Amino acid sequence: MKKEKGIDLILTNDITADLGDIISRKSYLISSLYEFAKLFEKIKYPEIYFETIKQTINHIKKLYEFNEGIFLNYNKEDESLYIKGEEIAYKMYESIPFESDEILEFAKKSLTITFKILNNKIEGKILKKLISTIIYIPISYQKECFGFLYLESEKVLNINSDDISILSIIASQMAFALKNSQLLEQIESNFLETINSLVSAIEVKDTYTKGHSSRVAKYCVNFAFFINLPTDQIKSLEIASLLHDIGKIGIPYELLNKKETLSPIDINFIKKHPEMGAHILEPLEFLAKERKIILHHHERFDGNGYPNKIKGKDIPFESRILSLADSLDAMATDRPYRKALDFKSIILEFKRCSGTQFDPELTEQFIDFLEKNQQIIRRDYED
Ligand SMILES: [Fe+2]
Repeated sequence: MKKEKGIDLILTNDITADLGDIISRKSYLISSLYEFAKLFEKIKYPEIYFETIKQTINHIKKLYEFNEGIFLNYNKEDESLYIKGEEIAYKMYESIPFESDEILEFAKKSLTITFKILNNKIEGKILKKLISTIIYIPISYQKECFGFLYLESEKVLNINSDDISILSIIASQMAFALKNSQLLEQIESNFLETINSLVSAIEVKDTYTKGHSSRVAKYCVNFAFFINLPTDQIKSLEIASLLHDIGKIGIPYELLNKKETLSPIDINFIKKHPEMGAHILEPLEFLAKERKIILHHHERFDGNGYPNKIKGKDIPFESRILSLADSLDAMATDRPYRKALDFKSIILEFKRCSGTQFDPELTEQFIDFLEKNQQIIRRDYED
């Protein structure tokens, strides 16, 4: 027996071993929270939403022995729960309804972490394996419920009050990140609305290009998905393509709508619009990348374009895509000097100008994209 400050300490080998286990487990749990917070810092917008969910589930799986986990989105209107799938096309999600069970109902009402060890194994909802433990973790921020994390394990897991505290901290971090992503999305949509009103201002002046910018943006974005570009690049391309002709605001109405053949002076003036556009956007530092894409959207692969006559891969990648989508819409619509081209002629024209006006590698992929989406694209030009 050891006497220390008046307290009798009885130390046996078993107790020290248990204490050692408990202390190392607790320090592991606490250090994992630090690691988790660090991981969260690395997630950048626009991937916050899916990345946050993925990282949270992976972290919980790493801490405990859950086989699999999913996030159930909560729909406030009809109080239903559903699983939101991956982005399968531009702004399209596959939603699968999720049926409530009695444990989930309890979690929904109480908004508390609810877990259950099953007396008899049942088939899991995710992996279709026989499972023994289920847990629902509500993800809510200031009484706003985003949904639930649902995890299942084949094993009987021993989850105590310390674990519940750790899971609560993880859940609140996840809720905070989702709230942030919602706010950023709101800012972005306000910004895009402002851009759209600017685009309308251009199109009011130029009657021949009504709907041009939004169609070009649609083709750019869909093509970007088609060739698997990363999300941040797709976003830049979307903004740049919507704004690519913003410089036309500086071109007189009479000139933009002139029915007679344009004089070389007229042409040179119109050719100023990429620079004018870049100039308009100059004060908006956060659009620096998009500004560059706009500035070079009329460069040609062979170096005979404008304004800087740069060639090949020196032309920003996104500008080379924008040039293809811009030309598609120009060819598919009536212009003062010619009628719209049919689909076959458009493809032939892209083939003819591959390597001179357009990037040959991208042109090949763009033709493939056009052929595969022919029906949908054609509908844009009907009536
Ligand atoms: Fe243009």
